[in-house]
This record gives sequence, structure tokens and C-alpha cells, in this order.
Amino acid sequence: MKGIFITFEGGEACGKTTQLKLLQQYFKEKGTDALFVREPGGTALGESVRHLLLTNEDIQMCGKTELLLFMASRTELYEKTIKPALDAGRIVVADRYYDSTVAYQGSARGVMDMEDVLSLNLKFLDGLKPDLTVYLKIAPKEAFLRKENMPLDKMEREGLTFHQKVADGYDYMVQKHPDRFIVIDATQSIEDIHKQIVTAVEKLATKSQESEN
Ligand code: TMP
Repeated sequence: MKGIFITFEGGEACGKTTQLKLLQQYFKEKGTDALFVREPGGTALGESVRHLLLTNEDIQMCGKTELLLFMASRTELYEKTIKPALDAGRIVVADRYYDSTVAYQGSARGVMDMEDVLSLNLKFLDGLKPDLTVYLKIAPKEAFLRKENMPLDKMEREGLTFHQKVADGYDYMVQKHPDRFIVIDATQSIEDIHKQIVTAVEKLATKSQESEN
């Protein structure tokens, strides 16, 4: 695969959506072709699964089923969208990828050992690892304050203990894969965070250009 694969990760209310919009704008202004996708979602099947997982109040499911549905959505997105785009040499930016499953279903839900969640994912994704993962780190207590008065989906309604375990899962992945993670303090100003993301993305683009030459 010739393209560049960037993922964004973080707990609830970390400001991911805002930063993704700013990065999209940045690429647009530079005339850089980049494809933005989100998880769960990004395909017709993925968006249905997203509804089932996050907003449908009638259907409750066990943790293992939840894990499989997140992975089904990801596999579909990978096969139909991510892989073809990377093969065509494009930049792909994903709003969440397998680190989310490790943190939410592995660490927080405790469905399966985190390493097993990771290797299971890699089997379905031809081993595709992100070139860069931007992790917007925020303490769950702080995130809960940000979420006050906002409508919450099923995952957001989980308690503080659950979201602390999500954060622990991310810390585990950062520690294991320091080469691809950039950890950004999500309590900084929107502009400061954006600058740090752009610096990391430009560094990666230069590195990938150098390795092509
Ligand atoms: P978001 O689009 O606002 O980030 O919401 C997606 C929600 O789904 C968020 O609570 C994290 C959760 N999630 C998982 O639990 N496992 C996964 O594998 C993914 C991709 C998301």
C-alpha cells in the first residue's frame, strides 16, 4: 500500500471532531487530496451498525457481540474504502480504528485480552497499522464536565470507571507503540492542538516522500 494512513483516537468529548474538521480544512487549502472516514460507519453497512451500536435503544447486546459488530464495520470500511484508497497512494484519515476496540471492548468492557483484540483485528485488516495515530488525551473526569447538558449515546452513558478503563487501554497502546503515537493534551486550546497535529502530519509526509525517493 502506497498511501499514508493516519488515525485519530481519544475518549469521549476529547475534541476529535473539531480537530478532524480543521485538518480537513488544512488539506483543502493546501490542495492535498485526503480521504476522511469515520468508525463505526463510513459505508452503508457501517452506518447501520453504528446506529445499532450507539443509538438504537431497543437492542441490548453482550460485549462479545459488540466487539464483533465494531470489527465488522471496520472490516467493511477497510475492504471497500481504506485499502483501495491507500493502494491508489492517497492519504486516509480515520476517525478511530482498532485502538478504539482495544481500549473500549478490550480494556473497558473486558471482553478479551487487549493483545488478543489487537491480533484478531490485524488478521481481518491484512495487518494494516496506522503510520501515525493522534491520541487526544483527556482525563475522563474533565470529559464528563464537557459532556454536561449534551445528549449522550449508549457508550457515553457508561460511568466514570468504564471511561477510566478506556483511558488505561489507550495508555497501554501508547506505551507499546510509541513510534506511531503522538499524544496531545486535549485540554489545550483548539489552535494549539491543531498546530501540533499539522507538525506531526507534515513530518510524516516528508518522511514518506524521502523513503519514496
Ligand atoms: P464517536 O464517533 O463520537 O467517536 O463515537 C464512537 C463511539 O463508539 C465511541 O464511544 C467509541 C465507541 N467505539 C468502540 O467502543 N469501539 C470501537 O471499536 C470503535 C471504533 C468505537
